[in-house]
Amino acid sequence: MTDRPLACIILAAGKGTRMKSSLPKVLHPLGGLPMVKHVVMAAESLSPQRIVVVVGPGMDNVAAAVAPHVTVVQERQQGTGDAVKSAMGELSGFTGDVLVLYGDSPLITPATLAAMVVARRGAGDPAVVVLGMRPADPGAYGRLVLGADGSLEKIVEYLDATPEERAITLCNAGFMAFDGARMGDLLAGIGNDNAKGEYYLTDAVSVARARGFTCAVVEGPNDDTAGVNSRVELAWIEKIFQDRLRHAAMINGATLLDPRTVYFAADTKLGRDVTVGQNVVFGPGVTVEDGVEIKPFSHLEGVVVRKNAIIGPYARLRPGTDVGEGAHIGNFVELKNTHFGAGAKANHLTYLGDADVGGGSNIGAGTITCNYDGVLKHRTRIGEKVFIGTHSTLVAPVAVGDGAYTAAGTVVTRDVGADALAISRAPQEEKPGWASRYRAAKLALKAKLGKK
Ligand code: UD1
Ligand code: MG
Repeated sequence: MTDRPLACIILAAGKGTRMKSSLPKVLHPLGGLPMVKHVVMAAESLSPQRIVVVVGPGMDNVAAAVAPHVTVVQERQQGTGDAVKSAMGELSGFTGDVLVLYGDSPLITPATLAAMVVARRGAGDPAVVVLGMRPADPGAYGRLVLGADGSLEKIVEYLDATPEERAITLCNAGFMAFDGARMGDLLAGIGNDNAKGEYYLTDAVSVARARGFTCAVVEGPNDDTAGVNSRVELAWIEKIFQDRLRHAAMINGATLLDPRTVYFAADTKLGRDVTVGQNVVFGPGVTVEDGVEIKPFSHLEGVVVRKNAIIGPYARLRPGTDVGEGAHIGNFVELKNTHFGAGAKANHLTYLGDADVGGGSNIGAGTITCNYDGVLKHRTRIGEKVFIGTHSTLVAPVAVGDGAYTAAGTVVTRDVGADALAISRAPQEEKPGWASRYRAAKLALKAKLGKK
Protein backbone atom coordinates (compact mmCIF):
# COMPACT_ATOMS: atom_id res chain seq x y z
CA MET A 1 0.00 0.00 0.00
CA THR A 2 1.10 3.56 -0.61
CA ASP A 3 1.64 6.06 2.18
CA ARG A 4 -1.59 7.88 1.37
CA PRO A 5 -3.34 8.58 4.67
CA LEU A 6 -6.37 6.53 5.67
CA ALA A 7 -9.32 7.32 7.93
CA CYS A 8 -12.07 4.95 9.08
CA ILE A 9 -15.69 5.70 9.87
CA ILE A 10 -17.53 3.01 11.81
CA LEU A 11 -21.34 3.15 11.73
CA ALA A 12 -22.89 2.13 15.01
CA ALA A 13 -25.90 4.41 15.48
CA GLY A 14 -28.55 1.85 14.60
CA LYS A 15 -30.82 0.81 17.47
CA GLY A 16 -30.77 -2.84 16.46
CA THR A 17 -34.48 -3.26 17.14
CA ARG A 18 -34.41 -6.87 15.97
CA MET A 19 -32.08 -7.76 18.85
CA LYS A 20 -34.95 -6.93 21.27
CA SER A 21 -32.45 -5.68 23.83
CA SER A 22 -31.84 -2.70 26.08
CA LEU A 23 -28.16 -2.99 25.15
CA PRO A 24 -27.14 -1.32 21.85
CA LYS A 25 -26.63 -4.00 19.22
CA VAL A 26 -22.93 -3.29 18.69
CA LEU A 27 -22.23 -3.91 22.40
CA HIS A 28 -23.47 -7.49 22.29
CA PRO A 29 -20.36 -9.61 22.80
CA LEU A 30 -18.61 -11.89 20.39
CA GLY A 31 -15.95 -14.00 22.09
CA GLY A 32 -16.56 -11.90 25.22
CA LEU A 33 -15.73 -8.62 23.45
CA PRO A 34 -18.35 -6.11 22.19
CA MET A 35 -18.96 -6.53 18.45
CA VAL A 36 -17.91 -2.97 17.73
CA LYS A 37 -14.51 -3.60 19.38
CA HIS A 38 -13.82 -6.31 16.81
CA VAL A 39 -14.52 -3.81 14.05
CA VAL A 40 -12.37 -1.16 15.75
CA MET A 41 -9.49 -3.65 16.05
CA ALA A 42 -9.78 -4.60 12.36
CA ALA A 43 -9.68 -0.88 11.49
CA GLU A 44 -6.71 -0.29 13.82
CA SER A 45 -4.76 -3.01 12.06
CA LEU A 46 -4.52 -0.70 9.03
CA SER A 47 -2.97 2.07 11.18
CA PRO A 48 -5.40 4.77 10.01
CA GLN A 49 -4.76 8.42 10.88
CA ARG A 50 -8.06 8.46 12.68
CA ILE A 51 -11.10 6.36 13.48
CA VAL A 52 -14.48 8.05 13.92
CA VAL A 53 -17.40 6.07 15.31
CA VAL A 54 -20.97 7.21 14.63
CA VAL A 55 -23.29 6.51 17.56
CA GLY A 56 -26.92 7.26 18.34
CA PRO A 57 -28.14 9.69 21.03
CA GLY A 58 -27.57 8.38 24.55
CA MET A 59 -25.12 5.69 23.46
CA ASP A 60 -22.48 6.73 25.98
CA ASN A 61 -21.73 3.07 26.64
CA VAL A 62 -20.77 2.61 22.96
CA ALA A 63 -18.57 5.72 23.14
CA ALA A 64 -16.87 4.28 26.24
CA ALA A 65 -16.32 0.93 24.49
CA VAL A 66 -14.55 2.52 21.50
CA ALA A 67 -12.52 5.11 23.46
CA PRO A 68 -10.05 6.69 22.86
CA HIS A 69 -11.41 6.94 19.33
CA VAL A 70 -13.65 9.88 18.58
CA THR A 71 -17.42 9.44 18.45
CA VAL A 72 -20.00 11.66 16.79
CA VAL A 73 -23.71 11.50 17.52
CA GLN A 74 -26.10 11.05 14.61
CA GLU A 75 -29.13 12.81 16.05
CA ARG A 76 -31.75 11.07 13.92
CA GLN A 77 -31.19 7.75 12.17
CA GLN A 78 -31.95 8.82 8.62
CA GLY A 79 -29.92 6.12 6.94
CA THR A 80 -26.35 5.05 6.34
CA GLY A 81 -25.64 8.01 4.03
CA ASP A 82 -26.77 10.43 6.72
CA ALA A 83 -24.67 8.58 9.31
CA VAL A 84 -21.51 8.98 7.25
CA LYS A 85 -22.31 12.65 6.61
CA SER A 86 -22.53 13.27 10.35
CA ALA A 87 -18.93 12.01 10.71
CA MET A 88 -17.48 14.22 7.97
CA GLY A 89 -16.99 17.21 10.31
CA GLU A 90 -14.32 15.14 12.09
CA LEU A 91 -12.52 14.62 8.77
CA SER A 92 -12.34 18.24 7.61
CA GLY A 93 -9.01 18.88 5.94
CA PHE A 94 -8.42 15.15 5.49
CA THR A 95 -7.46 14.24 1.92
CA GLY A 96 -6.60 10.55 1.94
CA ASP A 97 -8.88 7.52 1.61
CA VAL A 98 -11.86 6.87 3.84
CA LEU A 99 -13.02 3.40 4.74
CA VAL A 100 -16.61 3.02 5.99
CA LEU A 101 -17.23 0.01 8.23
CA TYR A 102 -20.36 -1.32 9.92
CA GLY A 103 -20.22 -1.86 13.67
CA ASP A 104 -22.50 -4.87 13.39
CA SER A 105 -20.23 -6.86 11.05
CA PRO A 106 -17.55 -8.04 13.47
CA LEU A 107 -16.00 -10.85 11.42
CA ILE A 108 -14.32 -8.48 8.99
CA THR A 109 -10.61 -9.26 8.69
CA PRO A 110 -7.64 -6.92 8.21
CA ALA A 111 -6.81 -8.76 4.95
CA THR A 112 -10.19 -7.97 3.39
CA LEU A 113 -10.04 -4.33 4.47
CA ALA A 114 -6.51 -4.03 3.09
CA ALA A 115 -7.68 -5.48 -0.25
CA MET A 116 -10.33 -2.75 -0.43
CA VAL A 117 -7.80 0.00 0.22
CA VAL A 118 -5.45 -1.46 -2.39
CA ALA A 119 -8.30 -1.50 -4.94
CA ARG A 120 -9.23 2.09 -4.09
CA ARG A 121 -5.67 3.18 -4.84
CA GLY A 122 -5.30 0.90 -7.86
CA ALA A 123 -6.24 0.76 -11.50
CA GLY A 124 -8.86 3.22 -12.71
CA ASP A 125 -8.66 5.37 -9.56
CA PRO A 126 -12.21 4.42 -8.52
CA ALA A 127 -14.09 7.00 -6.46
CA VAL A 128 -15.78 4.22 -4.49
CA VAL A 129 -14.85 0.60 -3.80
CA VAL A 130 -17.59 -1.63 -2.44
CA LEU A 131 -17.11 -4.92 -0.64
CA GLY A 132 -19.19 -7.56 -2.40
CA MET A 133 -20.27 -10.99 -1.24
CA ARG A 134 -22.26 -13.93 -2.56
CA PRO A 135 -24.24 -15.27 0.41
CA ALA A 136 -26.07 -18.59 0.07
CA ASP A 137 -29.28 -16.66 0.67
CA PRO A 138 -29.03 -13.11 -0.77
CA GLY A 139 -32.24 -12.24 1.14
CA ALA A 140 -32.75 -8.52 1.63
CA TYR A 141 -29.17 -7.41 0.97
CA GLY A 142 -28.53 -4.61 -1.50
CA ARG A 143 -27.64 -5.93 -4.98
CA LEU A 144 -24.55 -4.86 -6.93
CA VAL A 145 -25.33 -3.99 -10.54
CA LEU A 146 -22.28 -4.30 -12.77
CA GLY A 147 -21.72 -2.67 -16.15
CA ALA A 148 -20.55 -4.50 -19.29
CA ASP A 149 -16.90 -3.88 -18.32
CA GLY A 150 -17.38 -5.47 -14.89
CA SER A 151 -17.17 -2.19 -13.01
CA LEU A 152 -19.88 -1.19 -10.55
CA GLU A 153 -22.79 0.81 -11.98
CA LYS A 154 -25.06 1.08 -8.96
CA ILE A 155 -26.33 -0.55 -5.79
CA VAL A 156 -30.02 -1.19 -5.45
CA GLU A 157 -31.56 -1.80 -2.09
CA TYR A 158 -33.74 -4.90 -2.03
CA LEU A 159 -36.92 -2.95 -1.37
CA ASP A 160 -36.27 -0.74 -4.38
CA ALA A 161 -35.07 -3.50 -6.71
CA THR A 162 -36.83 -4.89 -9.79
CA PRO A 163 -37.33 -8.67 -10.03
CA GLU A 164 -34.36 -8.83 -12.44
CA GLU A 165 -32.17 -6.94 -9.98
CA ARG A 166 -33.31 -9.16 -7.10
CA ALA A 167 -32.09 -12.15 -9.12
CA ILE A 168 -28.50 -10.81 -8.90
CA THR A 169 -26.46 -12.91 -6.47
CA LEU A 170 -23.62 -10.43 -5.92
CA CYS A 171 -24.60 -8.48 -2.80
CA ASN A 172 -23.46 -5.41 -0.92
CA ALA A 173 -21.62 -6.35 2.27
CA GLY A 174 -21.82 -2.72 3.37
CA PHE A 175 -18.14 -1.82 3.71
CA MET A 176 -16.93 0.89 1.30
CA ALA A 177 -13.68 2.69 0.53
CA PHE A 178 -13.86 6.27 -0.76
CA ASP A 179 -11.42 8.72 -2.21
CA GLY A 180 -11.69 11.34 0.54
CA ALA A 181 -11.19 14.20 -1.92
CA ARG A 182 -14.35 13.29 -3.86
CA MET A 183 -16.37 11.89 -0.98
CA GLY A 184 -18.05 15.06 0.34
CA ASP A 185 -19.44 15.86 -3.09
CA LEU A 186 -20.78 12.30 -3.51
CA LEU A 187 -22.50 12.39 -0.12
CA ALA A 188 -24.07 15.76 -0.98
CA GLY A 189 -25.58 14.17 -4.10
CA ILE A 190 -27.44 11.46 -2.14
CA GLY A 191 -31.20 11.98 -1.84
CA ASN A 192 -33.90 10.09 0.06
CA ASP A 193 -36.39 9.34 -2.66
CA ASN A 194 -36.63 5.58 -2.04
CA ALA A 195 -38.73 2.90 -0.37
CA LYS A 196 -37.50 3.76 3.13
CA GLY A 197 -37.25 7.52 2.69
CA GLU A 198 -33.67 7.28 3.99
CA TYR A 199 -30.33 8.60 2.77
CA TYR A 200 -28.68 5.45 1.46
CA LEU A 201 -24.88 5.46 1.48
CA THR A 202 -25.15 2.94 -1.32
CA ASP A 203 -26.41 5.71 -3.64
CA ALA A 204 -22.90 7.20 -3.57
CA VAL A 205 -22.13 4.75 -6.38
CA SER A 206 -24.73 6.08 -8.85
CA VAL A 207 -23.83 9.64 -7.89
CA ALA A 208 -20.18 8.86 -8.66
CA ARG A 209 -21.11 7.29 -12.00
CA ALA A 210 -23.18 10.36 -12.90
CA ARG A 211 -20.06 12.47 -12.21
CA GLY A 212 -18.11 10.25 -14.63
CA PHE A 213 -16.04 8.42 -11.98
CA THR A 214 -15.55 4.66 -11.94
CA CYS A 215 -16.55 2.43 -9.04
CA ALA A 216 -15.19 -1.03 -8.26
CA VAL A 217 -16.10 -4.17 -6.30
CA VAL A 218 -13.84 -6.30 -4.14
CA GLU A 219 -15.42 -9.66 -3.40
CA GLY A 220 -14.78 -10.85 0.15
CA PRO A 221 -15.23 -14.22 1.83
CA ASN A 222 -18.82 -14.64 3.02
CA ASP A 223 -17.71 -15.19 6.61
CA ASP A 224 -15.91 -11.84 6.72
CA THR A 225 -18.96 -9.94 5.66
CA ALA A 226 -21.68 -11.48 7.82
CA GLY A 227 -23.65 -8.92 9.81
CA VAL A 228 -25.69 -9.30 12.98
CA ASN A 229 -29.31 -8.18 13.03
CA SER A 230 -30.80 -10.72 15.42
CA ARG A 231 -29.63 -12.98 18.24
CA VAL A 232 -29.95 -15.94 15.91
CA GLU A 233 -27.36 -14.33 13.63
CA LEU A 234 -25.24 -13.45 16.65
CA ALA A 235 -25.13 -17.13 17.65
CA TRP A 236 -24.22 -18.10 14.10
CA ILE A 237 -21.42 -15.54 13.97
CA GLU A 238 -20.12 -16.65 17.37
CA LYS A 239 -19.82 -20.16 15.94
CA ILE A 240 -17.77 -18.94 12.98
CA PHE A 241 -15.62 -16.83 15.32
CA GLN A 242 -15.01 -19.74 17.71
CA ASP A 243 -13.91 -21.90 14.78
CA ARG A 244 -11.41 -19.21 13.79
CA LEU A 245 -10.03 -19.07 17.35
CA ARG A 246 -9.79 -22.86 17.62
CA HIS A 247 -8.00 -23.05 14.33
CA ALA A 248 -5.55 -20.30 15.34
CA ALA A 249 -4.88 -21.96 18.72
CA MET A 250 -3.96 -25.24 17.02
CA ILE A 251 -1.88 -23.55 14.32
CA ASN A 252 0.02 -21.80 17.13
CA GLY A 253 0.92 -25.05 18.88
CA ALA A 254 -1.88 -25.99 21.27
CA THR A 255 -3.60 -29.38 21.24
CA LEU A 256 -7.39 -29.24 21.56
CA LEU A 257 -8.69 -32.73 22.29
CA ASP A 258 -12.12 -31.92 20.88
CA PRO A 259 -11.90 -28.47 19.29
CA ARG A 260 -15.60 -27.89 18.84
CA THR A 261 -16.19 -28.16 22.60
CA VAL A 262 -13.54 -25.59 23.58
CA TYR A 263 -14.76 -21.99 23.82
CA PHE A 264 -12.34 -19.10 23.66
CA ALA A 265 -12.53 -15.39 24.33
CA ALA A 266 -11.23 -13.04 21.67
CA ASP A 267 -8.15 -12.27 23.82
CA THR A 268 -7.26 -15.79 25.05
CA LYS A 269 -3.51 -16.40 24.84
CA LEU A 270 -2.20 -19.96 24.76
CA GLY A 271 1.49 -20.89 24.74
CA ARG A 272 3.06 -23.82 22.96
CA ASP A 273 2.35 -27.41 23.89
CA VAL A 274 -0.70 -26.47 25.88
CA THR A 275 -3.26 -29.28 25.97
CA VAL A 276 -6.89 -28.35 26.38
CA GLY A 277 -9.36 -31.10 27.21
CA GLN A 278 -12.99 -31.34 26.19
CA ASN A 279 -15.56 -28.77 27.29
CA VAL A 280 -13.19 -26.10 28.54
CA VAL A 281 -14.40 -22.48 28.55
CA PHE A 282 -12.12 -19.45 28.48
CA GLY A 283 -13.67 -16.15 29.57
CA PRO A 284 -11.91 -12.85 28.84
CA GLY A 285 -8.39 -12.12 30.05
CA VAL A 286 -6.74 -15.55 30.15
CA THR A 287 -3.06 -16.21 29.48
CA VAL A 288 -1.81 -19.80 29.53
CA GLU A 289 1.93 -20.39 29.34
CA ASP A 290 3.79 -23.21 27.62
CA GLY A 291 3.26 -26.84 28.58
CA VAL A 292 0.11 -26.35 30.66
CA GLU A 293 -2.53 -29.07 30.69
CA ILE A 294 -6.13 -28.01 31.17
CA LYS A 295 -8.31 -31.03 31.78
CA PRO A 296 -11.98 -31.28 30.77
CA PHE A 297 -14.83 -29.15 32.09
CA SER A 298 -12.69 -26.33 33.45
CA HIS A 299 -13.70 -22.66 33.36
CA LEU A 300 -11.06 -19.90 33.36
CA GLU A 301 -11.47 -16.12 33.35
CA GLY A 302 -9.03 -13.28 34.10
CA VAL A 303 -6.18 -15.60 35.03
CA VAL A 304 -2.56 -16.32 34.24
CA VAL A 305 -1.55 -19.98 34.32
CA ARG A 306 2.22 -20.38 34.40
CA LYS A 307 4.35 -23.01 32.69
CA ASN A 308 3.59 -26.70 33.08
CA ALA A 309 0.76 -26.25 35.57
CA ILE A 310 -2.06 -28.82 35.55
CA ILE A 311 -5.62 -27.56 35.83
CA GLY A 312 -8.81 -29.54 36.37
CA PRO A 313 -10.82 -31.49 35.53
CA TYR A 314 -13.71 -29.35 36.78
CA ALA A 315 -11.58 -26.43 37.97
CA ARG A 316 -12.85 -22.89 38.17
CA LEU A 317 -10.27 -20.09 37.96
CA ARG A 318 -11.74 -16.62 38.48
CA PRO A 319 -10.39 -13.11 37.82
CA GLY A 320 -7.23 -11.89 39.50
CA THR A 321 -5.74 -15.37 39.81
CA ASP A 322 -2.17 -16.34 39.03
CA VAL A 323 -1.33 -20.05 39.10
CA GLY A 324 2.40 -20.65 39.49
CA GLU A 325 4.71 -22.80 37.43
CA GLY A 326 4.07 -26.51 37.82
CA ALA A 327 1.19 -26.00 40.26
CA HIS A 328 -1.75 -28.42 40.36
CA ILE A 329 -5.37 -27.33 40.64
CA GLY A 330 -7.71 -30.29 40.77
CA ASN A 331 -11.39 -31.10 40.60
CA PHE A 332 -13.99 -28.80 42.10
CA VAL A 333 -11.37 -26.29 43.14
CA GLU A 334 -12.23 -22.60 42.78
CA LEU A 335 -9.65 -19.81 42.93
CA LYS A 336 -10.59 -16.12 42.95
CA ASN A 337 -8.09 -13.24 43.13
CA THR A 338 -5.54 -15.69 44.41
CA HIS A 339 -1.80 -15.93 43.90
CA PHE A 340 -1.02 -19.63 43.91
CA GLY A 341 2.71 -20.34 44.17
CA ALA A 342 4.95 -22.49 41.99
CA GLY A 343 4.54 -26.20 42.59
CA ALA A 344 1.71 -25.74 45.10
CA LYS A 345 -1.21 -28.17 45.00
CA ALA A 346 -4.92 -27.89 45.70
CA ASN A 347 -6.32 -31.05 44.25
CA HIS A 348 -9.84 -31.45 45.59
CA LEU A 349 -12.97 -29.53 46.59
CA THR A 350 -11.51 -26.24 47.71
CA TYR A 351 -12.27 -22.50 47.65
CA LEU A 352 -9.38 -20.06 47.81
CA GLY A 353 -10.51 -16.44 47.52
CA ASP A 354 -8.29 -13.36 48.04
CA ALA A 355 -5.45 -15.64 49.08
CA ASP A 356 -1.68 -15.92 48.66
CA VAL A 357 -0.34 -19.44 48.69
CA GLY A 358 3.42 -19.88 48.81
CA GLY A 359 5.38 -22.22 46.56
CA GLY A 360 5.30 -25.92 47.35
CA SER A 361 2.34 -25.73 49.74
CA ASN A 362 -0.31 -28.44 49.85
CA ILE A 363 -3.91 -27.47 50.34
CA GLY A 364 -5.99 -30.39 51.63
CA ALA A 365 -9.39 -31.41 50.31
CA GLY A 366 -12.30 -29.29 51.45
CA THR A 367 -10.23 -26.26 52.46
CA ILE A 368 -12.16 -22.99 52.51
CA THR A 369 -10.91 -19.44 52.88
CA CYS A 370 -13.60 -17.34 54.54
CA ASN A 371 -12.67 -14.14 52.72
CA TYR A 372 -15.93 -12.24 53.11
CA ASP A 373 -17.37 -11.03 56.41
CA GLY A 374 -20.63 -9.90 54.89
CA VAL A 375 -19.28 -6.39 54.27
CA LEU A 376 -15.58 -6.52 53.44
CA LYS A 377 -13.18 -8.94 51.79
CA HIS A 378 -10.00 -9.99 53.56
CA ARG A 379 -6.83 -11.82 52.52
CA THR A 380 -5.51 -15.16 53.64
CA ARG A 381 -1.72 -15.48 53.52
CA ILE A 382 -0.28 -18.97 53.40
CA GLY A 383 3.51 -19.24 53.35
CA GLU A 384 5.79 -21.63 51.50
CA LYS A 385 5.71 -25.41 51.96
CA VAL A 386 2.69 -25.15 54.25
CA PHE A 387 0.48 -28.18 54.81
CA ILE A 388 -3.17 -27.21 55.15
CA GLY A 389 -5.00 -30.24 56.52
CA THR A 390 -8.20 -31.54 55.00
CA HIS A 391 -11.33 -29.54 55.75
CA SER A 392 -9.47 -26.57 57.20
CA THR A 393 -11.37 -23.31 57.42
CA LEU A 394 -9.26 -20.16 57.27
CA VAL A 395 -11.09 -17.10 58.59
CA ALA A 396 -9.48 -14.07 56.96
CA PRO A 397 -7.63 -11.90 57.60
CA VAL A 398 -5.24 -14.58 58.75
CA ALA A 399 -1.72 -15.79 57.98
CA VAL A 400 -0.04 -19.19 58.17
CA GLY A 401 3.77 -19.09 58.35
CA ASP A 402 6.21 -21.02 56.16
CA GLY A 403 6.39 -24.74 56.83
CA ALA A 404 3.42 -24.75 59.23
CA TYR A 405 0.70 -27.40 59.45
CA THR A 406 -2.99 -27.09 60.15
CA ALA A 407 -4.65 -30.25 61.40
CA ALA A 408 -7.63 -31.69 59.55
CA GLY A 409 -10.87 -29.92 60.42
CA THR A 410 -9.17 -26.94 61.99
CA VAL A 411 -10.83 -23.53 62.01
CA VAL A 412 -7.95 -21.06 61.79
CA THR A 413 -8.91 -17.71 63.29
CA ARG A 414 -5.49 -16.52 64.46
CA ASP A 415 -2.15 -16.32 62.67
CA VAL A 416 -0.07 -19.52 62.76
CA GLY A 417 3.70 -19.24 63.23
CA ALA A 418 6.25 -20.77 60.88
CA ASP A 419 6.71 -24.51 61.39
CA ALA A 420 3.92 -24.65 64.00
CA LEU A 421 0.85 -26.88 64.06
CA ALA A 422 -2.55 -25.26 64.44
CA ILE A 423 -5.25 -27.61 65.68
CA SER A 424 -8.77 -26.80 66.76
CA ARG A 425 -10.95 -29.81 67.28
CA ALA A 426 -13.50 -31.14 69.75
CA PRO A 427 -11.84 -34.02 71.67
CA GLN A 428 -12.77 -37.48 70.42
CA GLU A 429 -14.63 -39.79 72.78
CA GLU A 430 -15.04 -43.55 72.37
CA LYS A 431 -18.00 -45.60 73.68
CA PRO A 432 -17.08 -49.29 73.40
CA GLY A 433 -19.90 -51.58 72.15
CA TRP A 434 -22.26 -48.65 71.60
CA ALA A 435 -23.00 -49.46 67.96
CA SER A 436 -24.06 -53.07 68.52
CA ARG A 437 -26.30 -52.05 71.46
CA TYR A 438 -27.83 -49.32 69.31
CA ARG A 439 -28.56 -51.67 66.39
CA ALA A 440 -30.12 -54.30 68.70
CA ALA A 441 -32.42 -51.72 70.31
CA LYS A 442 -33.55 -50.37 66.93
CA LEU A 443 -34.20 -53.85 65.49
CA ALA A 444 -36.28 -54.75 68.59
CA LEU A 445 -38.37 -51.60 68.14
CA LYS A 446 -38.91 -52.39 64.45
CA ALA A 447 -40.11 -55.95 65.30
CA LYS A 448 -42.50 -54.58 67.94
CA LEU A 449 -44.03 -52.22 65.36
CA GLY A 450 -44.46 -55.18 62.96
CA LYS A 451 -42.41 -53.54 60.20
CA LYS A 452 -40.42 -55.57 57.68
C1 UD1 B 1 -27.11 -2.05 4.54
C2 UD1 B 1 -26.97 -1.65 3.06
C3 UD1 B 1 -27.24 -2.87 2.19
C4 UD1 B 1 -26.29 -3.97 2.56
C5 UD1 B 1 -26.38 -4.28 4.05
C6 UD1 B 1 -25.24 -5.22 4.44
C7 UD1 B 1 -27.65 0.70 2.93
C8 UD1 B 1 -28.70 1.65 2.48
N1 UD1 B 1 -27.92 -0.60 2.75
O1 UD1 B 1 -28.46 -2.42 4.77
O2 UD1 B 1 -27.07 -2.53 0.81
O3 UD1 B 1 -26.57 -5.12 1.79
O4 UD1 B 1 -26.20 -3.10 4.84
O5 UD1 B 1 -25.38 -5.62 5.77
O6 UD1 B 1 -26.61 1.12 3.37
N2 UD1 B 1 -26.61 2.94 10.78
C9 UD1 B 1 -26.37 4.17 11.33
N3 UD1 B 1 -27.27 5.17 11.14
C10 UD1 B 1 -28.39 5.02 10.38
C11 UD1 B 1 -28.64 3.74 9.82
C12 UD1 B 1 -27.72 2.73 10.04
O7 UD1 B 1 -25.37 4.38 12.02
O8 UD1 B 1 -29.15 6.01 10.24
C13 UD1 B 1 -25.61 1.87 10.99
C14 UD1 B 1 -26.16 0.67 11.77
O9 UD1 B 1 -25.87 0.80 13.15
C15 UD1 B 1 -25.36 -0.49 11.16
C16 UD1 B 1 -25.07 -0.03 9.74
O10 UD1 B 1 -25.24 1.38 9.73
O11 UD1 B 1 -24.13 -0.69 11.84
C17 UD1 B 1 -25.99 -0.67 8.70
O12 UD1 B 1 -27.33 -0.33 8.94
P1 UD1 B 1 -28.53 -1.34 8.70
O13 UD1 B 1 -29.80 -0.68 9.08
O14 UD1 B 1 -28.21 -2.64 9.37
O15 UD1 B 1 -28.48 -1.51 7.11
P2 UD1 B 1 -29.09 -2.67 6.27
O16 UD1 B 1 -30.55 -2.46 6.12
O17 UD1 B 1 -28.62 -3.95 6.82
MG1 MG C 1 -27.77 -4.56 8.74
